[in-house]
Parts: sequence; structure tokens; C-alpha cells
Amino acid sequence: MAAPAPQLLPDDADPTFAELIAGRPHLTVHAHDGLTMEEVPLARIAAEVGTPSWVYSAGTLRRRFRALQGALEEARVPSEIHFAVKANPNLAVVRALAKEGAGADIVSEGELRLALAAGIDPAHIVFSGVGKTLGELRFALSHRIGQINAESAEEIGMISDVATELGVTADVALRVNPDVDARTHAKITTGKSENKFGVAIADAPALYARMAATPGVRPVGIAVHIGSQITAGVSAYAAAYAALADLVRGLRAQGLAVERVDCGGGLGIPYRHEPAPSPAALAGAIRGALGNLGVKLMVEPGRWICGPAGVLLTRVILQKHTGSRRFVILDAAMNDLLRPAMYEAWHGIVPVSPQDFVSPVSPCDVVGPVCETGDTFARNRGLPLLEPGSLVAFLDAGAYGAAMSSTYNARPLAAEILVDGDRFATVRARQTQEALLAGQSVPDWLAA
Ligand code: LLP
Repeated sequence: MAAPAPQLLPDDADPTFAELIAGRPHLTVHAHDGLTMEEVPLARIAAEVGTPSWVYSAGTLRRRFRALQGALEEARVPSEIHFAVKANPNLAVVRALAKEGAGADIVSEGELRLALAAGIDPAHIVFSGVGKTLGELRFALSHRIGQINAESAEEIGMISDVATELGVTADVALRVNPDVDARTHAKITTGKSENKFGVAIADAPALYARMAATPGVRPVGIAVHIGSQITAGVSAYAAAYAALADLVRGLRAQGLAVERVDCGGGLGIPYRHEPAPSPAALAGAIRGALGNLGVKLMVEPGRWICGPAGVLLTRVILQKHTGSRRFVILDAAMNDLLRPAMYEAWHGIVPVSPQDFVSPVSPCDVVGPVCETGDTFARNRGLPLLEPGSLVAFLDAGAYGAAMSSTYNARPLAAEILVDGDRFATVRARQTQEALLAGQSVPDWLAA
């Protein structure tokens, strides 16, 4: 008897197009219209707006926000949800979440201006980040934002200077670094002692006490954020929150008031078919460690809310064969979606036309036109033969997609579209070639 053919471990096999779509309820495939988001065929958007374009599902943003909120309420840890604007700083996206009651976690004056423009109450805005400039602090405090998460003694001094100058009191939480390993990609882990973020937990009691005696500063609580795309269960969260709970008890024993705990973001999503913890599991970890402290709880998720809600819609420029490899060359590139080049990230890539969706697949390398080998979205990915002009969609591109785009190779920033039921609107126009050149000039001595 012949030996059985070696079986691919389920982990080694990419999900099929049908499996990818089945896991994303806002996407369906129609016999005539092909891949459709909510009720809008993506081919229609490509025809009207062009490619590459980012397309977001408003229904998915709302559904996921509510699911997270529901999980926190169910676990009896109702928490303020501050959307991490860095994940998707599109005004209409932030507006849709603001209408659901989201606050904002921001890291720059630009994000703060965007959150305000989206109608978020300044009282529900938290300023995170390891290096805030005096100008940014001045802008934030003059808009009376709800909280600043301070990451160093030096920064507490800067906040104090600006608050005193403006004659205000800043509500400041101290971001601690709990030295736990979130077991995610090294470039996005933030809670290890060798990472630049926060203050060592051992230094926190003295710093917090010093904050209480600092003019213009009112210490309101503790903040933590251990990393992003956390998929290896919630044990790292639980460890961080346990350390925070000990810290809160210690501070209170010193007679210091602790009103709030900011639990950070980082909840991962399955891009391929990796297991990812549920919001209920995160809520359970929060409940277990912090539920009985009588503090106001906050979370600052980005990716979990908006990642699955978006696709990057792109067209095949051409296919070519070099040596034994088939290359599918798209009109999107690493300047649009940087995650594969930067983190070796896997994104589902599915055809849009109904015929391509069911055609037999063979391995190919999916690349952009940018002049470096790093501009590779996927290697050995199963795709059908794709004629020039065929459309494909990158899945789960709603977080850290458009947000991380650049104009590398003098490529204009792609358009952004919001789909809501049977409606869609361009919510950021494609950058024009003129806009790319605007603001540049040649000095007199070179002009002649
Ligand atoms: N809070 C703070 C202080 C953060 O630094 C971050 C993300 C978040 C919240 C939101 O984390 P999320 O829930 O989205 O995981 N560009 C990378 C991700 C960088 C995350 C940076 N900080 C990527 O594409 O995977």
C-alpha cells in the first residue's frame, strides 16, 4: 500500500476565498455583481472612484464597536471606549464611531484636531504618546481634553509648565511599563522594559506622589498599553492588569487618590486564521484584576474595531512570468499598504469578479510597482489567472492601512470610501498629481 500523501497541517494552508468571505459578514459574493460590501458592489466603486481605493463598511464599524461595548457591559466592567485614532484617522470613520459614543485616544495635535472635527467631546479625549511637544500640550490643554497619559518625569514637568502658563489643571494618568511580553511582532510590542514606553512600575509610586505635589497637575490614575495585534490569549493582559491593581492598592495605601485605570488597546484580529482572543476574554481579564477597585475603566482599541471593516481595492496592471514565478503586479503598492513590507503581515487577497472568484487558483507573487523587492504583498499566494484590469481586494485593511500610507515613488495617496447600506461616499478624495507637487519650490539661485 502506498504511503498516504503528507497532509498539510491546517496551519500551513491559506484559507480559501469562500472561507475568507464567510468570516467577514459585510462581504458577500453575488453571481452578477461579484464581491460586494454591505449592499454596494466593489466593482461599482472602482468604476466610479478608480483604484487603488480604501473602502470601509460603516455597518461593521458600528457592529464591532457595539460588540466590544456589550462584552464590557456583560462582564460588569462598563468602560469608556476611546478609539485609537492612529488606526484609522479618516474623519468619516471617526465620526461614525463618535455617533456610537466613542471617545478618542490621540497621539498628536493632528489627531486631536481630527477627533474634535469629528465631534468628539474633549472630555472624552485621551492624549497618549511618548513624546508630546510643548506646542501639542498647549493645544490639548487649551481645548480642555479629558486626560493626558504621561510617560516620564520629564514630561510631567512639561505638562506642569504648560498648565501653569495657561492657568489650568491637567488631569494626568501615569503610563506604566509592566514588563510583560504580549507575544506579538517585535515592532509593535510596547510593554517590555526594553521598550521606550511608560515608566518602570517600580518608579511609579514615587512619580505618582510627585505628580500630586506638582503645580497644574492632578494625578487621576494609571495607564498601560502592552502592544498591538495581541492574539496569544489574554494572559499578558491579565499579568499587566494584576500588576496595575497592586500598584493602585499601593498608591491608595500611601493616601493617594486613583480614580481611573486606562487598560490600553491591542486586541488582535484573525488576518489569516490565527486564533484571536474575544472581547469577552479581554473584558474577563479586566474584570478579574481591576473589577473591584472602584475605578473608572477605559480601553483604547484601534485595530479590533476598524481593521476588519476595510478593504484596499486595487486593479491588476499586468501579470508576468519571470523564471518559474508568476508575478501579479497591482496598482497598489507598499506606499499604500505598508503592513506586509513592514511586519511580514498576511492579508487576505480575493478577486472581485464573480468569475475570478470561482476560477482555479495557482501560486503567484503579488507585488506593487514600487522599485524595491520589499514591495511584495504576498509570495506563493493562490490566485486565478488575472487579466490586466481585474480587481482584487485586500481584506482587513481598515486599520493601519491608509493611516500608514506615504507618497513614496511620487504616488498620490489613494481615495477613501465609506459604504453604509446601499450608499457610498468618497470620504477622502484621491490626492491629485498637482497636490503632490504643491508646496514644493525651487530656490531662486536654482531657478534661472
Ligand atoms: N493605545 C496606544 C497607546 C497605542 O500605542 C496603540 C497602538 C493603541 C492604543 C491601539 O492599539 P490597537 O488596538 O490598534 O492594537 N502599525 C502597526 C500597529 C501599531 C500600533 C501602535 N499603537 C500595525 O500595522 O500592525
